[in-house]
Amino acid sequence: MSLLDTFKEKAKANKKKIVLPEGNELRTLKGAVIAAQEGLAEPILLGDKAEIIALAEKEGLLLDGVTVVDIAGSEHLDDFAEFFYELRKHKGMTPEKAAQTVRNPLYFGNLMLMKGMADGLLAGADNTTGDVLRAALHTVKTKKGINTVSGAFVMILPEDTYGDNGVFIFGDCAVNPDPTAEQLADITISCAETKQSLIGGDSTVAMLSFSTKGSAAHPNVDKVTQALAMVKERRPDLMVDGELQLDAAVVQSVADKKAPGSEVAGKANVLVFPDLQSGNIGYKLVQRFANASAIGPILQGMAKPVNDLSRGCSVQDVVDMIAITALQCE
Ligand code: ACO
Repeated sequence: MSLLDTFKEKAKANKKKIVLPEGNELRTLKGAVIAAQEGLAEPILLGDKAEIIALAEKEGLLLDGVTVVDIAGSEHLDDFAEFFYELRKHKGMTPEKAAQTVRNPLYFGNLMLMKGMADGLLAGADNTTGDVLRAALHTVKTKKGINTVSGAFVMILPEDTYGDNGVFIFGDCAVNPDPTAEQLADITISCAETKQSLIGGDSTVAMLSFSTKGSAAHPNVDKVTQALAMVKERRPDLMVDGELQLDAAVVQSVADKKAPGSEVAGKANVLVFPDLQSGNIGYKLVQRFANASAIGPILQGMAKPVNDLSRGCSVQDVVDMIAITALQCE
């Protein structure tokens, strides 16, 4: 059974309500219908109800098991507007602006999460990453103990030589352009937790750099070692080491030379990149040149599961991410 199939079996065993704010978008609609048919989740589509029903009929899709919520006629608009105003008034939010903002499906969906009407949210087929993230950051915010939202990928290599039988968690590949040491520490802890919750087994976490254990001196290297010290203090239970070059992190013979005695070097299955440039480029290099599957970005650190699709996503991507979002729900 593939890892993705395992994720789907787990999602089926504990069906969650996943809200999809882009209900009028065809790939989203098709993905929701398939997810309902396969029993992966209870999808909730937001949008113009008449339009969604007409689109489903035109495409020959049955909406069995899919709930459609029409925001324009929702009985929750006033309550959501008042709640959102209270949440953001310290940031200059006005009652008028709040009433207008909650009609935006991204905000309406996140407020459904906060009100316990849905368990997780998936969007991004139509909206940019920034818009999807901002709506969630303005509402559900971060979970207790983590101040930084980040984006991880499950990377599945065609061979099992490296990582956890060829499986890695890479992060942050999606959100924080230039994290501080504190943010890098949050990202590292979130990546280790994502490995634990999605894949299981031991997490061996490498904090990557262009330097291994002081081989180079630079403020960028210092940032990684400062973040490592914070992680060790906050989570002494984690198997984490840095700063490590990629080869020292995953190749035992190189680790023996460059980082002797490290319990992580040579065995890493969680790779934490020092910034978004290296993280985003890094996962795409492995995906393209090593023919690896890249599942994600899986957003981590949010108080409720919220995930972002690529605007180039396929229907299958929507289905897969519905299952993963469901798995992240408590
Ligand atoms: N974690 C937690 N909170 C955050 C984060 C974060 N990473 N980033 C911003 N915030 C908070 C801010 O503090 C602010 O809080 P407040 O308003 O309550 O004070 C709130 O979120 C919104 O901040 P804004 O300033 O309005 O949003 P900003 O313009 O900083 O945008 C964003 C944040 C959207 C995450 C931005 O950093 C971004 O666009 N990142 C890059 C995303 C991207 O393009 N990724 C690459 C594509 S994805 C891919 O290829 C897989």
